[in-house]
Amino acid sequence: MMAALLTGLVSNTLYAQRTRQDSLSTEKLAASAAPFFAAAQTEALHEALTTAASELGGRLLVIDLDGKVQMDTFSLLDGKRLAVPEVVEVLTTDASHAYGIHPVRGVLSDNASDAEDYAALCAARMTSSGQTIGALLLSAPVTELHNAIVTVERQLLTVFVAVAAAALIAALVFAVTITRPVKALTSTIRRMGRGDLSARVKVRASGEMKELADSYNAMAEKIENFDRSRSQFVSNASHELKTPLATMKILLENLLYDPDMPSELRTEFMQDMNHEIDRLTGIITDLLTLTQIDSHDAELHAQEVDLSALTEETLHTLRPAADKHGQRLFVQLAPDVRIVGDPSKLTQIIYNLADNALKYTPEGGEIHITLSAQGADAVLTVSDNGIGIPEEDQAHIFDRFYRVDKARSRATGGTGLGLSIVRQMVQLHGGAITVDSVPEKGSSFTVTLPLQKGVH
Ligand SMILES: Nc1ncnc2c1ncn2[C@@H]1O[C@H](COP(=O)(O)OP(=O)(O)OP(=O)(O)O)[C@@H](O)[C@H]1O
Ligand SMILES: [Mg+2]
Repeated sequence: MMAALLTGLVSNTLYAQRTRQDSLSTEKLAASAAPFFAAAQTEALHEALTTAASELGGRLLVIDLDGKVQMDTFSLLDGKRLAVPEVVEVLTTDASHAYGIHPVRGVLSDNASDAEDYAALCAARMTSSGQTIGALLLSAPVTELHNAIVTVERQLLTVFVAVAAAALIAALVFAVTITRPVKALTSTIRRMGRGDLSARVKVRASGEMKELADSYNAMAEKIENFDRSRSQFVSNASHELKTPLATMKILLENLLYDPDMPSELRTEFMQDMNHEIDRLTGIITDLLTLTQIDSHDAELHAQEVDLSALTEETLHTLRPAADKHGQRLFVQLAPDVRIVGDPSKLTQIIYNLADNALKYTPEGGEIHITLSAQGADAVLTVSDNGIGIPEEDQAHIFDRFYRVDKARSRATGGTGLGLSIVRQMVQLHGGAITVDSVPEKGSSFTVTLPLQKGVH
């Protein structure tokens, strides 16, 4: 459509230009030739028109009011009647000139070889003293103009076909490059939706598509990890719960099938069972705490807490255990270190760290606990000179159920949940926890908690 429109526009412009030129020169000629025609100076008229005709590259005819040809520079139609519409228009109406394009044959010539040719006919009124005395007709071939237009048309058409083809190819390429990654992404999402969490998108695209695929893959990775850790958590938890239950069953069966058991042994078995029940209760309490934090149900009953007093209180409950093992507690607490936090959760942080220090330090060991305000943080350190933690385990001790030495922990009753609870609670308070430990030399845990603004 654009091509047709443009070529139409171009040919119209070219024709209009030609019309203007022809009309102008015919009118000028008519004005200059009129006196000769009026005065019947045939010789002079003929000479003037012949010169002009050759200059214009056409044929000139003078037609009188009766429509008869009075002069033809080709000398073919002299004396004949000529009913060319343009001439009729000029002679019968007020128009000073008229213009039209006609096939040459039948109008100005009967020559069959001219069949293909078109001529531009331009008629102009000839006047003398205000009276119309005839018309001057210019007939010029338009083959050149026609050829020029055809050339322009062809060139435009070629350009448009090329542009259209290029646009089509570009659109196809674009559609393929856009839809292929989207398709890949969609099929991967479907696979994930069906439960295959290992599905990842392989996209070689760039820019936004790549960003989208990368983000999606990152999210898929997270979901897969989450799913894995959740099922691991469930299996670990079941395993931990199974062990005390199995122990209790053996104890109970012993009691059941041996009614003659001495009463001291019976009491001992009962005490063991009581101990296992305590252990079970402890594990379940820990598990509940963790799942509560996970489901964001754990509310932070935040209030201003005197961390110094809270630490002192918590350590008080642990002193008997330390004394029992001949361990010495060195406590150095800066007074009045206040933070905003949840007292029960803060107690749990202090208790679990101190409990570990006692558990993993041999008899007669030393445990140092300090609390101070450093800059914008309250800093609590719990150090011992116990068994220490190997370098490679240090990154994992905050994971759920992670124990460095399973056998030894089992003997001390550890489940591997204490530190993961500590870390979650420290994070809940906007703080951080780090460990520094050397095997056989001891461990040091440092907790930093943001101080309440303006307090202390
Ligand atoms: N102070 C320490 N010295 C040496 N090893 C430690 C110390 N604290 C923790 N660990 C190691 O890190 C592991 C994880 O500690 P965590 O408190 O999470 O679990 P636990 O003490 O085994 O059990 P729980 O605290 O749930 O009863 C422990 O099993 C132990 O191997
Ligand atoms: Mg512990």
